[in-house]
Amino acid sequence: MNAEHTIRDKLYCAIDTPDAARAEALAASLGGAVGGIKLGLEFFAAHGPAGVRRVMDKAAGADLFLDLKFHDIPNTVAAAMHAAAPLAPRLIDVHASGGRAMMEAARDAAGEAADAAGCARPLVVGVTVLTSLDGADLAALGLNAEPEDQVVRLATLAAEAGLDGVVCSAREITALRNALGPDFTLVTPGIRPAGTETGDQKRVVTPGQAIHDGADFLVIGRPITGAPDPAAAARRIAAEAAETLG
Ligand code: C5P
Repeated sequence: MNAEHTIRDKLYCAIDTPDAARAEALAASLGGAVGGIKLGLEFFAAHGPAGVRRVMDKAAGADLFLDLKFHDIPNTVAAAMHAAAPLAPRLIDVHASGGRAMMEAARDAAGEAADAAGCARPLVVGVTVLTSLDGADLAALGLNAEPEDQVVRLATLAAEAGLDGVVCSAREITALRNALGPDFTLVTPGIRPAGTETGDQKRVVTPGQAIHDGADFLVIGRPITGAPDPAAAARRIAAEAAETLG
């Protein structure tokens, strides 16, 4: 497999729209250009599990990251994991700030529910500090920590709770690899090819840099979905990242 294909498999396109027809058309056009599709709150609130199935049916074998960011008491999160398992996501997430007991409940429920549904257990990852937040935002929340330190703290708790990995900014990859080793799955949104709009994202990194630093999965939304030809944009991102690696 060449470098571009390996990189393609790490790219998950965030299809953030409440418009089912647009989501299905994007999934159909992206099949083969990305490794996975990420569906999150915006789409799920509008169309639920049936909508997710319809999009993934169009996505030509792409994997699913079900980004519902569960954040509730352990019992509720476990029940939500059971309800989501039949969608057979490759990745699913909870907020690490929900605490250790909640993350343990999520991990256990994901395993039980996948067994019951006859599908592979999803990788359960913890959202650390949203990539739309910077140090000033953390201070306003009463957290007097640099984003990187807070990310490492939450990721360590996630690892202790038995989660497979975390969602973080690619800026934190090196610190997390040092703290938690090479096998902890790192999922990085906040990816922006050089010269593109950052929008509401604050802790951004280019695709090539994220791959170089060791991200396992890159979640990329608007730089792909907002392009005139989304599949071409995804292929360009994979090619540019491969070039950065040399
Ligand atoms: O359009 P953009 O590339 O900014 O999309 C990033 C996606 O990653 C969005 O769907 C957002 O919900 C998600 N995400 C994020 N920060 C996190 C976790 C997920 O931006 N910490």
